[in-house]
Amino acid sequence: MRILGIETSCDETSASVVEDGVKVLSLVIASSRGQFERSGGVIPEQAARRQVECIMPVIEQALEEAKVEPTSLDAIAVTKGPGLLGSLLVGTIAARTCASVWNVPIIGVHHTLGHLSSTWLGAEEDIRFPVLTISASGGHTELWHRTSHLSGQLLGRTRDDAAGEAFDKGASLLGLPYPGGPEVSKCGKNGNPHAHEFPLPLKQDPTFDFSFAGLKTSLRYLLRDLPSAPSASELSDIAASYEYALCAHLLNKLSHALNKYPDTQEVHFVGGVSANTRLRELAAITAEGRTLRFPKTLAYCTDNAAMIAAAGQFLLEAGMPANEAFETVASLPLEEALKQK
Ligand code: KG4
Ligand code: ZN
Repeated sequence: MRILGIETSCDETSASVVEDGVKVLSLVIASSRGQFERSGGVIPEQAARRQVECIMPVIEQALEEAKVEPTSLDAIAVTKGPGLLGSLLVGTIAARTCASVWNVPIIGVHHTLGHLSSTWLGAEEDIRFPVLTISASGGHTELWHRTSHLSGQLLGRTRDDAAGEAFDKGASLLGLPYPGGPEVSKCGKNGNPHAHEFPLPLKQDPTFDFSFAGLKTSLRYLLRDLPSAPSASELSDIAASYEYALCAHLLNKLSHALNKYPDTQEVHFVGGVSANTRLRELAAITAEGRTLRFPKTLAYCTDNAAMIAAAGQFLLEAGMPANEAFETVASLPLEEALKQK
């Protein structure tokens, strides 16, 4: 089955053709993030305008690179929400129009189900459920337990900042540019991750929730109380310790979940933060021999249409009827990612 995925939930315009939910035949991503460096955040109207300019060329390029005739597609899968409404509408209107002109079925996909499906892209062997997934990006941080693609539950989520946001805000406190994740890693690469002990958030809390705002405040106080401006090596120690603390919090909740669900076969990390090298190293210890999986490439970690195409495949395989009416919505509860049947 060959599915054209379309993802336009924020400032990326992406299209991709994926075969059988795993084989990526093409993936095109046009990002307008560079436009928003000076404003420090995405301006929704501008992002939507860029989407309008990019959407058709991006779709055409994805089909061309995959060498697929549009009328031979088995379906079009498009992000229906959540996200910026203007951006989402550009994607869904383009998808509906193409589906109608090419006479191809269309299916609406929850953006989060896309991220949860991203570890299947390029996978060479079968992935066994139950799977515990930590999905962490600039906008969200969640822990999921699934027994199949569409069944399972959201165990916990962040109560305040997202993990990526904590990297971004921490980077800004350290005088490093946006996006902060890779910058904090680079700065702390040769630093001592145990030079400063940050408190472990929600340590005694029995839930699977996360909280990152306190770590950011601890970093602010640490920097404020330094007797003098930190040297390069002191800064590197601070960055490494902060990065370690963010990873330790994610992994502490993962460990808690592994205790509750000992039958877990695989542990997955998805979203922008899953690119973090220190997280990957430390996760190998926490997973205790279980298969540990990250998206195969950086492009699959961040927002992309291949993960939407994969999710579309899994929805169709699970019996979701194609061409079922769906709405394009800015807010869509996280839990609904798994309730699409
Ligand atoms: O998924 P994503 O591209 O966009 C959304 O937020 O939806 O994630 C971006 C986030 C940013 O907060 C960025 O700082 C973080 O992912 N990030 C990282 C790394 N690369 C990106 N965080 C930690 N380590 C990284 N290597
Ligand atoms: Zn996303």
